[in-house]
Amino acid sequence: MKAASLLHSTKQSEYMHWAKTRSGARFNLATSGLANLSLKDLRVSLDDLDITGTSGYGYEPLVRALADRHRVDPACVVTAAGTTFANHLAMAGLINPGDEVLFERPAYEPLLALAHYLRADVKRFDRRFEDGFRLSLSEIEKQISSRTRLIVITNFHNPSGVLTDDDILAEVGEIARNVGARVLVDEVYVQMLFEEPPRTAFHLGNQFVATSSLTKAFGLSGLRCGWIFAEPELAERMWRVNDLFAATPVHAGERLSVVALQQLEGIAKSAQQRFDDNRGLLNEFLDQREDLETVRPTAGSIMFPRVKQGDSERLCELLRGKYETSVVPGKFFEMPAHFRIGLGGDTETMAEGLVRLGAALDEIG
Ligand SMILES: Cc1ncc(COP(=O)(O)O)c(C=O)c1O
Repeated sequence: MKAASLLHSTKQSEYMHWAKTRSGARFNLATSGLANLSLKDLRVSLDDLDITGTSGYGYEPLVRALADRHRVDPACVVTAAGTTFANHLAMAGLINPGDEVLFERPAYEPLLALAHYLRADVKRFDRRFEDGFRLSLSEIEKQISSRTRLIVITNFHNPSGVLTDDDILAEVGEIARNVGARVLVDEVYVQMLFEEPPRTAFHLGNQFVATSSLTKAFGLSGLRCGWIFAEPELAERMWRVNDLFAATPVHAGERLSVVALQQLEGIAKSAQQRFDDNRGLLNEFLDQREDLETVRPTAGSIMFPRVKQGDSERLCELLRGKYETSVVPGKFFEMPAHFRIGLGGDTETMAEGLVRLGAALDEIG
């Protein structure tokens, strides 16, 4: 094992800490998912709930609902507290300390921190702004080696919001298969395509492991309804890792997740409308700003503009301090000239937040 990888071991996420303590603002454009729903938004009766159930290795109605919705074998489903914990169980099941892991750059920092926490030997491949942040097979091929055990990708890419199509992912799968590696795809944002059935990279071959949740697309973060799709032997291994951490899930949460899955179609309709309306507003705003350059995805909830004059830190501070508006500073994604803006808040907040962002940009310009 390389000494450098040990030095990088970490037990915290800088971004998550910032998100919990510093991202709040009257006009919050920092969150990446649909604004949270409340219990009132679900049709639920007390008879739907209980606090004790039979969920040793998965609550059968929840596992079945997720398996049916995504057309996968229930033996391939592991449930977990959000994509966050799904990623933890998946990665811990897939790698050992010192294993080489290839990671996209820019990356979602908590996922990268997790790889360091698990003492992986992390190598990076670039997704370049100049290439529209697309996943480049040649960049992966440049970095992969016979020691690579895992390639980690987010889809849509966080922070850029760029979607990677299945044909490209399949080619990544081939590159991984050639060296005996797996591909972990955090596809929490893919739910925002609102397809039925939703696509999952897991269908592209057994070298793929996919993680997701109901958090981002449906405003259901509070349910912590996350999952992993992995071939049965791996799924079993991940359930066994869970025995060291969560042991058993909160049963009332599992029950509510089953209820939510039954009502997802209605929630999806208004969510999609929200993202489309807000994307329209953001595109109009970006059309007018010569001081920003942006790769503009046509679906999803995030974009990652670049401030032409160079550093977003001052902008983000001014915006939050004087204009009561928050976006995510690009430094959390290793690209300080950028900032990430989210489309999931209510449309009035989005509109006013953009006016304030314009004023702050004018002030630093
Ligand atoms: C790529 C990615 N994965 C996972 C998460 C967290 O998801 P969850 O709330 O389901 O744990 C986020 C949140 O921003 C994310 O961007």
